[in-house]
Amino acid sequence: MAPLPYRVTETQEEAPGVVTISISPLGTAIPAHRHGQFNMLTAFGLGESAISLSGSGPEGKLVHTVRDVGPVTSALCGARPGDVVGVRGPFGTGWGVEDGSFLEEGDVVVVAGGIGLAPLRGAISALVARRSAALEARTRSGNVCLVIGAREPQQLIFGDDLARWAAGGARVTVTVDIPDARWRGGVGLVTSHLGAAGFEVEGATALICGPEIMMRFTARGLVDAGVAPERIRVALERNMQCGLAWCGHCQLGPLLVCRDGPVVPYTDVVADLLVQRER
Ligand SMILES: Cc1cc2nc3c(=O)[nH]c(=O)nc-3n(C[C@H](O)[C@H](O)[C@H](O)COP(=O)(O)OP(=O)(O)OC[C@H]3O[C@@H](n4cnc5c(N)ncnc54)[C@H](O)[C@@H]3O)c2cc1C
Ligand code: FES
Repeated sequence: MAPLPYRVTETQEEAPGVVTISISPLGTAIPAHRHGQFNMLTAFGLGESAISLSGSGPEGKLVHTVRDVGPVTSALCGARPGDVVGVRGPFGTGWGVEDGSFLEEGDVVVVAGGIGLAPLRGAISALVARRSAALEARTRSGNVCLVIGAREPQQLIFGDDLARWAAGGARVTVTVDIPDARWRGGVGLVTSHLGAAGFEVEGATALICGPEIMMRFTARGLVDAGVAPERIRVALERNMQCGLAWCGHCQLGPLLVCRDGPVVPYTDVVADLLVQRER
């Protein structure tokens, strides 16, 4: 339960109110994570918040991308290099990209809304790298197809990564709800761009992260298009306290999201849960 101290080494504003912070262990590091897992980050004196890992690096470096919505996230977004935060984790389930089987079986379509791209960032980089390696080795690989949405252009995060993934062979569609005069990308909800994302339904795997309403309509749209529900994964979000399946705070129907999620297959149970309101 005790958080380990980490020093903030770098911060980067991604969009208004959204900051990526890189941290390194002051002593013992937490164990290695899988893409999609989350940590409990402590802003000392204020409390803890569940924050997904958006990256990692050598010597125990961890990267998290935080949206300022309240006391803890505001302190994390305002942290400066040299400040110390606490870390417990990693917790929960991941996207399951580590073994590479998704791309062996077909295309992978990744749909993200807003800051929902943060928990998918590491998984997308791993998929793009794996596909490049497969093509070099002349082995079979599906395509990586990304549909990334944001409310407005200025709220898009990870612009450099989007360019890097496209250069690495991913099919990247970026769309905003409200374009400005300079916007040259897609317009409209991510669901209206699924058909043009360029993926083959047979054998496809889908990874979805964003607001619940967006995940609900995206998952339904993919099922209607023919993607098998058990090959669709969504990321659930509930208020967390212990992160260890002890307190019951994150219960959602039969699931404890800190243990059984955040990444879950889109079963009938999950489809029903996605319409339930936060307790
Ligand atoms: C598994 C998981 C991964 C997450 N990953 C990220 C991430 O990568 N980046 C990020 O910025 N945020 C992430 N969050 C959300 C983050 O945990 C909350 O925004 C944060 O705890 C808010 O704390 P606060 O003290 O700043 O604000 P609070 O005052 O605690 O909350 C501000 C408002 O947000 C609501 N809220 C708080 N937590 C949640 C939640 N989990 N789900 C829905 N509403 C909530 C509160 O009800 C309140 O209305 C994640 C949450 C979970 C469960
Ligand atoms: S956060 Fe305590 S049981 Fe999940």
